[in-house]
Amino acid sequence: MSGIIIKTPAEIEVMRQAGGKAADVLRVVCDAVKPGVTTLELDHLALDTMERLGVKSAFLNYMGYPAQTCISVNETVIHGIPGSRVIQDGDVVSIDVGVWHMGFVGDNAKTVMVNVEDPAVIALVENTEKALMAGIEAVRPGARLGDVSHAIEQVANKSRLSVVREFVGHGCGRSMHEEPQIPNFGPSGRGPILREGMVLCIEPMFNLGSRRIRTLDDGWTVVTSDGKPAAHFEHMIAVTAEGAEILTPR
Ligand code: MF3
Ligand code: CO
Repeated sequence: MSGIIIKTPAEIEVMRQAGGKAADVLRVVCDAVKPGVTTLELDHLALDTMERLGVKSAFLNYMGYPAQTCISVNETVIHGIPGSRVIQDGDVVSIDVGVWHMGFVGDNAKTVMVNVEDPAVIALVENTEKALMAGIEAVRPGARLGDVSHAIEQVANKSRLSVVREFVGHGCGRSMHEEPQIPNFGPSGRGPILREGMVLCIEPMFNLGSRRIRTLDDGWTVVTSDGKPAAHFEHMIAVTAEGAEILTPR
């Protein structure tokens, strides 16, 4: 027995729309990331886009979160609060967008590079995305959740990146966070069995340096302890008869 909610095909269709809109907002914001723009300007663009698409932020007011999106620059891993920080050449910018659509959440995230030249930083971003895709490829009915976690961790190990352990992926549906929790590390062959109709948000967070993180006094901003950059990618997927469908296609 597990408490993982199985969605009907009709519910998956609504979540496909929610995911599509979350992906649309993410694309618009990512395309606007340029040197000189502030993270608050990017957040305003997200709000404009959500209003145009008829959706609302799933993050605003979530446990008191004060913005539409999370925008996490360089040493900020996740939950960066948009503000006066100005984007510069060489930055890596992680953007996380969640929306409410017809009673369901769509959730996705991506790290974009701003004229990054440092090969180690490029490898960080590319391998974090590769790990997300490896995790998704491990999804099929009958597989174990640990197979997904392990596939992600293996990409980190091969590319000598460290895995953030304090934050995890999650089930998604009528709440942003449902069971199960999805760690980005751990043994294969363990954990709940995946079944058709589950909807999962898979979201690896990798650091270039140490895996150690800390939360700033604002209660949200999660930064690397060593100040080195981090990357974060997230897709919301449905478990299908064949494998996985990405509900937040780029
Ligand atoms: N994608 C993140 C998550 O799954 C976004 C949460 S940001 C918050 O939890 F501000 F809403 F907490
Ligand atoms: Co998420």
